[in-house]
Amino acid sequence: MRKFQWAIFSMFLCLYSASYPLQAQDLLMPHSIAAIVKTDKIQGGIRFTTSDQHIVWITTYSPTIIRVRVTDLKPTPDESYAVIGQVKPAFTAIRESATEWILQTDSLEVHVQKKPLRIAFYHRDGTYLDGDDPQLGITWQGSQVYSYRKLQDPEKFVGLGEKTGPLNRRGLSYVNWNTDAGYQTYSDPLYATYPFYIGILPRHVFGLFFDNTFKSFFNFGGSTDDRMYFFGAEGGEMNYYFFGASTVAGILQDYTALTGRMPMPPLWSLGYQQCRYSYMSQQQLLDVARRFRQDSLPCDVIYCDIDYMRGYRVFTWNPKTYPDPKSMTDTLKKLGMHLVTIIDPGIKIDSNGYEPYLSGLAHGYFARYPDGKPYTGSVWAGRSHFPDFTREDARQWWGEQFQVLVNSGVTGFWNDMNEPAAWGQNIPPVVEFGTGNHVATIQQVHNVYGMQMARATYEGTRKLLNGMRPFVLTRAAYSGVQRYSAEWTGDNFATDDNMIMGYRTLNSMGLSGESFVGMDIGGFNGNPTPELYVRWMSLGIYTPLLRNHTAKGNTSHEPWAWGEFNEAIVRRFLQTRYRLLPYLYSCFYESHTTGMPVNRSLAIDYTYDEHIYDPRFDAQFLFGPFMLVAPVVSSQQACEVYLPHGQWYRFSTDQLYAGDTSWWVPAPLDDLPVFVKAGAIIPMQNAVESTANPGDGVLRIHVWYGPDSTSFTYYEDDGQTYQYEQGQYLVRQLKFSPETRQFEIGPATGSYTSRFKQIEWIGHHFPANAQFTVNGKPVTVKHLPNDLTILTLPDATGSATIQWEP
Ligand code: NOJ
Repeated sequence: MRKFQWAIFSMFLCLYSASYPLQAQDLLMPHSIAAIVKTDKIQGGIRFTTSDQHIVWITTYSPTIIRVRVTDLKPTPDESYAVIGQVKPAFTAIRESATEWILQTDSLEVHVQKKPLRIAFYHRDGTYLDGDDPQLGITWQGSQVYSYRKLQDPEKFVGLGEKTGPLNRRGLSYVNWNTDAGYQTYSDPLYATYPFYIGILPRHVFGLFFDNTFKSFFNFGGSTDDRMYFFGAEGGEMNYYFFGASTVAGILQDYTALTGRMPMPPLWSLGYQQCRYSYMSQQQLLDVARRFRQDSLPCDVIYCDIDYMRGYRVFTWNPKTYPDPKSMTDTLKKLGMHLVTIIDPGIKIDSNGYEPYLSGLAHGYFARYPDGKPYTGSVWAGRSHFPDFTREDARQWWGEQFQVLVNSGVTGFWNDMNEPAAWGQNIPPVVEFGTGNHVATIQQVHNVYGMQMARATYEGTRKLLNGMRPFVLTRAAYSGVQRYSAEWTGDNFATDDNMIMGYRTLNSMGLSGESFVGMDIGGFNGNPTPELYVRWMSLGIYTPLLRNHTAKGNTSHEPWAWGEFNEAIVRRFLQTRYRLLPYLYSCFYESHTTGMPVNRSLAIDYTYDEHIYDPRFDAQFLFGPFMLVAPVVSSQQACEVYLPHGQWYRFSTDQLYAGDTSWWVPAPLDDLPVFVKAGAIIPMQNAVESTANPGDGVLRIHVWYGPDSTSFTYYEDDGQTYQYEQGQYLVRQLKFSPETRQFEIGPATGSYTSRFKQIEWIGHHFPANAQFTVNGKPVTVKHLPNDLTILTLPDATGSATIQWEP
């Protein structure tokens, strides 16, 4: 609170307590919202004024997205770091009865009880979805605001982004306060805040996003008698969006329509990424890069952790250990590799010609104490100031600082320590950010600091790279961060438990709009056993961000450090990753256009199947629409896998398994249990060592026979510029129809010419001895053992219908 406001408030308190002996305690007693006394129709919705001087705004953003915002009589400006969607009128009818208001859209019905005000959401088929607890509803306690909600008997909850714990969060509670934490299997909070969850009822789903950046709390029936569940925050407004689409995928589509979707990532960032804290010199880094090539190991990215800097001063190079960064990146380029450098927010206090410090200070771009002096905390560089990323001018200034790295040929930017972390973990709550009407303390800004740093980094480097796509990676995040950056899950441990938990966490991030996610493969803290290293690398293939990293002092994590035998296994894994790139890139296109994550919790496609929530199976996920991955600990060479509805083929052997049941399957270290769904369409390429290598020019479309029709949207573009925003892409629909015995490769839309000159179609388990035609003309096919049918299309560009008889 500003000094002036504080004076008025104290005066008011004195006058008030003269007539009523107000106890400090009263301010902390819970107060639940009162009755409606006034109603107004507004653009896109309705506004209620209550007898206890609150305004409740209920507006639509689509027929399936309804916002509830509660303010006092003088609302502050309506602003959000997460939301980019706009109000769109969608109420088709608004009715009033003696006791309630009923607001209808094509999909939902909102019932607003008048006395006291309570809100309930119904599906248009009459099913109650979710709503206020009748006694408590929206409640304040001091500056804290809560929504207490009815907990239904069979209800489950998934989501909340980067959190540990099981897929179903029922019975658990969580805190959002971005924290620099080396974490164990049940630690909370971690580095990111995604206050968004999905409720799952016996036949219905709903979603809820609480857009409040203060420290927030979610309790899904933990420590209670199941009477209610609740969420709330230490300050700010009750401000949430209710999602009523009828599937989890629909809710994700709506949530990402509201908070934004990821841009297409640079293709190279989907290759293998080798990191370590730290490659201590240019020489060491180049030796590692060259060894990848000598050992024929696919790799696209290598990292500089903090030791490349001069005394940990961001935006500098250490002239002794990294004397010629440009020639280093030139060499890397020749090897088909990109360099990613770490950047922390803290700027060292150093008036000895250190430009980022001097210019930041001169412009007043640092977070400050209420007396205007810049806040000082200690991080790697020693005493440092922290840029105020909530300010547009400071973000722009920050973006410009990357010139020195871009000049050195760096194309990837890793934002670390941006919770923000300062030694001691307790930045004083009075530290201020923003200017004019936008002044806020760290209590309000803390959870969005990392996201705004990622934003400044993305926007700045996008400008500097002259049309090329930067790769940005962040540790701290808030909802909507997907618009700017990939995210990794910070300082995990090299244990089996942590690895399995990590996949549940990544799946949960995918359920919260962030698709480009990864973890430190092999574990950051501690050393993995060789078995764990190999197992983790095999899982890494099916991780959107395939990045291996470890802490200082640990054993090396490069594949050759584990002996020739293990290196050979890892080489095969990495080759599989590169073969899958056409499929993976198309899956990222789906994230970019619909918000569907690459790693899909089974709760997306198999929402009502109880088995997927079983702790034995709840880390399993789909990699894209068709591949099911079962994370398994390194000490087990066989494991139980649950295969949901349908038929499934083991990816490595093509063995067929029935779904709707669990199976004990072999899981040797060199063969992770991965299954493809019958009907799967998976475009692949040949194995290359870098995405800079165009390969043999053959696109191999693999199709696994099955009883049901399937389709896949194939996507390609140049993989490095933003020309796709101008229509330079290629999209083709691929369709498998067993009933009509056809596989269609649809016409190409967009103005991009495919890098593949030939298309090979590879049928798995198609009827033996079938006769094939392409566009009505007979073609010769190759039949290979293992029920493989291979056919080369006469023309790779036009549309084609492959037909088989009988
Ligand atoms: C903490 C990060 O989480 C870790 O990945 C990094 O290696 C260290 N900071 C050093 O920069």
